[in-house]
Amino acid sequence: MAPLSLLTVCVLCFGQETAPLPRIDRSGVRPVLLVDGRPFLVLGGQINNSSAWSVTLPTVWPVLDVMHANTLEAPVYWETLEPAQGNFDFTQTDALLTGAREHHKRLVLLWFGTWKNGSPSYVPEWIKRDPVRYPLARKTDGTLSFSLSPFGEATLAADSKAFAALMHHLKTADPEHTVIMVQVENETGMWGGMRDHSQAADQAFAAPVPGVILHSMGKDKARGNWSDVFGPDADEFFYAWSIARYVEQVAEAGRRELALPLYVNAALRDPLTLGPPLSFESGGPTYDVLPLWHAVAPILDGINPDIYMPEYSKVSAVLAQYALPWNAYFIPEIGNAVGYARFFFTVLGSGAFGFSPFGMDASGFSNYPLGSKTVDAESIAPFAQNNELAGAISQELAGWIQQGKVHGVAEDTATHVQKLDLSVPGSDKTHWSATISYGLPTFYSDKPASGNAAPSGEAMVVTLGQDEFLVAGFHCRVDFQPVGSAAGAQRMWVSVEEGTYVHGIWQRSRLWNGDQTDYGLNFIDRPQLLRVRLLTYDLPNEAGKPLHATTELH
Ligand code: DGJ
Repeated sequence: MAPLSLLTVCVLCFGQETAPLPRIDRSGVRPVLLVDGRPFLVLGGQINNSSAWSVTLPTVWPVLDVMHANTLEAPVYWETLEPAQGNFDFTQTDALLTGAREHHKRLVLLWFGTWKNGSPSYVPEWIKRDPVRYPLARKTDGTLSFSLSPFGEATLAADSKAFAALMHHLKTADPEHTVIMVQVENETGMWGGMRDHSQAADQAFAAPVPGVILHSMGKDKARGNWSDVFGPDADEFFYAWSIARYVEQVAEAGRRELALPLYVNAALRDPLTLGPPLSFESGGPTYDVLPLWHAVAPILDGINPDIYMPEYSKVSAVLAQYALPWNAYFIPEIGNAVGYARFFFTVLGSGAFGFSPFGMDASGFSNYPLGSKTVDAESIAPFAQNNELAGAISQELAGWIQQGKVHGVAEDTATHVQKLDLSVPGSDKTHWSATISYGLPTFYSDKPASGNAAPSGEAMVVTLGQDEFLVAGFHCRVDFQPVGSAAGAQRMWVSVEEGTYVHGIWQRSRLWNGDQTDYGLNFIDRPQLLRVRLLTYDLPNEAGKPLHATTELH
């Protein structure tokens, strides 16, 4: 008799094979999320805060279907999970699990605990009513802020216990791992003040800055208390330490129960100017304190920006600030107004493994002017098109993101022509760069690009080989120019194939040629994926000699 394989033994012992836990894979150029053991692209939709209820969930699933989303991001409310201290009720969580399975979606659960946009609005009533055990933070003038103090030991213990109970429940209630990630708290920090001024906080503030903080902020040689070391930034940095330390402990309590990927989200500070004190949520993981947060809360796989800034310059600055090598990041929230859809490719190109607009349900509520006035077919369409295109190749795309091969841009109102560097870290140099123009006709024109009436253009180029690319876009023209040793030569299309990947194999549906390529690759209002092979001719010193055949990247 043939020996039993390990897998057969496992199946015999446990009755069935269990799906591997979702986890972060850090073996590539960029960290990515693995679900069922494979790279996963989060094509998400986050629902409104009060929509994770059995009565409102029916308004959620159709929107996610129209969006071609594969993941729902939904809150779990501490107040409903633990209505009386120590009595846990998982009805709401179970409704999410059941609904997601029925509608073939994955779940990212958002733990609305001690902080929800800095406030304690989601803590249970027994905490709200006992400010002695669960103190609020104090402002500079001694009055109370609407934010719990991270120095409340009983609050930390209670939050950790509740979060652990949630994760413990998932261990038994979710063997197939419908839940792929969990967000710990929501937009931590304090609005309207820079730090807690309670007695416990003031004492810690006057103590020497811990060595781990000095090191993380590049102050190894400095000694002293927070004011001595950080001067005008002392309050903010101190509060970031206080909150990160708290979150680390809550996260640890949950991780002990179930080792799902964990992350926090951030209310952003102005990415270009920093902005003055009080113009941002102090203590949260804003970009200026990311090294500190990472050092103090290393259990977190990711620190993710919530993007509600419509300007390309700001969005691209935010992406650069959060795409740090250690950060397994994606965009858990972005505005759902149509203009935000065009940031999809640039987000993927920055190395993020997902994109999730906020407010995606038909409950009738809208967070306008942050997002769209209405959620309807028209407002959803550009998000749906992104997902339709990416969803068809999501596993390949997540793999290319991991390998650093994906490049993306979005239309900027300040300029109508953009360049895209197509190089791949650690690989041979490509011979090409791409130019993306907005507002040109799909045919000949002697006028320069003037931009789309409303910014809606975006493009993505995946570097498959030295002279081979996958190209997609909306409302833009993409063309290629030889660079490096081939600079100055002309570009020739060897072939432009429209198609898609089926089970990992490229399937061509048609060739683009003639009018469809004579003026570049003109993308309009529908998902189109092109596989392009290029050649140079008319090199400055070797006229007529083809420079190189298509080769694979190494
Ligand atoms: C960011 C928060 O994380 C969300 O829960 C929500 O409050 C939005 N801001 C605003 O709609």
